[in-house]
Parts: sequence; C-alpha cells; structure tokens
Amino acid sequence: MSMNCATRSASAPGKVILFGEHAVVYGQPAIAVPVTQVKASVTVAPAPPGSGLTIVASDLGADYRLDAAPPDEPLTAAARLALSHCSAPEPDATLTLRSTIPIASGLGSGTAVSTALIRALAEFLGCPMETAELSALVFEIEKIHHGTPSGIDNTVVAYAQPVYFRRGHPVERLAVGAPFTLLIGDTGIRSSTREAVEQVRESRRRDPARYDALFDQIGDVASEARRAIEAGRVDALGPLMDENHELLIELGVSSPELDELVESARFGGAMGSKLSGAGRGGNMVALVEEDCVEEVAEELREAGAVRVIVTTITTADTTAD
Ligand code: MEV
Repeated sequence: MSMNCATRSASAPGKVILFGEHAVVYGQPAIAVPVTQVKASVTVAPAPPGSGLTIVASDLGADYRLDAAPPDEPLTAAARLALSHCSAPEPDATLTLRSTIPIASGLGSGTAVSTALIRALAEFLGCPMETAELSALVFEIEKIHHGTPSGIDNTVVAYAQPVYFRRGHPVERLAVGAPFTLLIGDTGIRSSTREAVEQVRESRRRDPARYDALFDQIGDVASEARRAIEAGRVDALGPLMDENHELLIELGVSSPELDELVESARFGGAMGSKLSGAGRGGNMVALVEEDCVEEVAEELREAGAVRVIVTTITTADTTAD
C-alpha cells in the first residue's frame, strides 16, 4: 500500500426518508433522498512521524488518538475499518471532522460522519473505493449505532442520490420525473433510532399479524410513490405522504410534536407531510409548491420547529459508480 501523504478531504450529505421507514427493516421498499444543505466533512492531513492517527471532532465533542479510544466507539470503528479494508497500518495523520447535521434528528448525522470519514481516510491511504464498497463499510458502522439497520441510510448517503431501496436487493437510483420541493422541520427533540426500531420490534413481537399488515401497506405506499416520482406526478405524492404518516402513527412512532408540525404544514398549504426517519422526535418532511415555501416554513416555525430546511429534489447529474 503506497501512501502519498497529501491532505485529502471528503464530505457526505444528510438524508431524509420520504417513504417506508421502519417497514424497510422488514423487507418492504422505501425511498430516501440526500439533503445537501447539511453535511459532514472530513479532512485528513499528514502529521509528524510517530504521532499516529488523531481524530479531532470538536462538533461531536470527541478529540482523541486512535489507540486511546474505545474500539466500539463509532468514529474509531470507522477509522479502523478503513485501515483494515485498505490493509494499511495506522498512518501519522490528523483527521478533522466537522458536521452541520443535527445529531439524533433523523437526518443521518452518524451515517454521514462515517461515510465522509471512511472516504477521506481511504483516499489519504491511496486506496479510493467504489461507492458500493463504501456503503457496505458504512453499513458495518450503522450496526454499532442502530443495532439492526435496514441499510437505507448508508445507501442514500454514500450514493448521494435519491434511492429506491429494498433490503437484499441491488441499489436502485431513482429517476425524478419532475423536480419537487421539500421542507424539513425539526422538532428539536432528539430521538434514538435504535430505541425506536426496538420499540417497533417489540410491538410486532406481541402482534405480528397487525404489524406485518401495516408494513405491507407502507410498502404499497412506497411502491406507488416510486411510480409517481418517476412519472413526474408530484400531485400524487402529497396524499401518499399523508397516508404514510397515518400508518406511522399506527406503528406507534409519531409524537405530539411531530403530529403538530405535520398538521401545521398542511394548514400552511403543504401538499402532504409526514414524520421522517425513526420518529418519536427528530424531523418531519412536507411537500410544498414553490410559491408556498415561505408560508409553510412560517407555520412550521410558529408550531415549534427549531429549524426548517428547504431542499429541491432532482435526479443528481453526478454519476456515482
Ligand atoms: C432510519 O433512518 C430509518 C429506519 O427505517 C431504520 C432503518 O431503516 O434502519 C427507522
């Protein structure tokens, strides 16, 4: 392995799940899109001989040398995984990580951090990797964060493109027939994906027939949404988002704060809205026409959103491998 020892940088976007969260863990299809307005960035720079790898992640409250960190700490685990994948010894380098993605809010903060870290470190080591390989490595770190992830988060963040995802199936990039605009509203309440997924698993254990039927219905909504997105039938997406939100309420993963934001977005003129990600807090997403963006954003803020992000979804013009 030849190290060229020049500084290398990489970044990875946040994400939102548009359709199919939770049901995707049980094999149903889901749709997710990157959110480029927030991102994690990593720079790896050469350090004096003998200094080893130092990870500086002030945004996340973590600064340490690789050999002094607990092995199951996700940043350390990501760095070790990149080293072992590249069959490289620990380099003398400083890895600096920054992220503007709110933590534990359903926007893929941990996933983006792992993705940017592994990509930057691999490039520093002179071992660039294909997107599929990167996504597979990030999936290993997702297991530390979330226990039993479906794989959708690492896929959408590594590919940085809209994806239609089904566990165990090849990645499908989604062709977006007509651009559409989303508002993402943050309840400001942190929520653990691991706990939300556990809660759903426990509920399903008690009543498998009911939960499997809900997962099937969510899967049908996601499949219908895929057809609408590809055909550019943006009008059809709003009602599907509303339907998906109702099903998520039935799964037990919404919260009064999420319902409040979802309803206020609709009141402000959104075409549809739903919680996004694991739920119980974190973010919701609303589909809005261009000329309603300000009005809906204001409704969301008045209803308690601590942050509102506007993003327009198109088919990415960059081609990831
Ligand atoms: C989290 O972003 C999405 C969930 O469906 C969990 C997963 O798919 O791993 C809740």
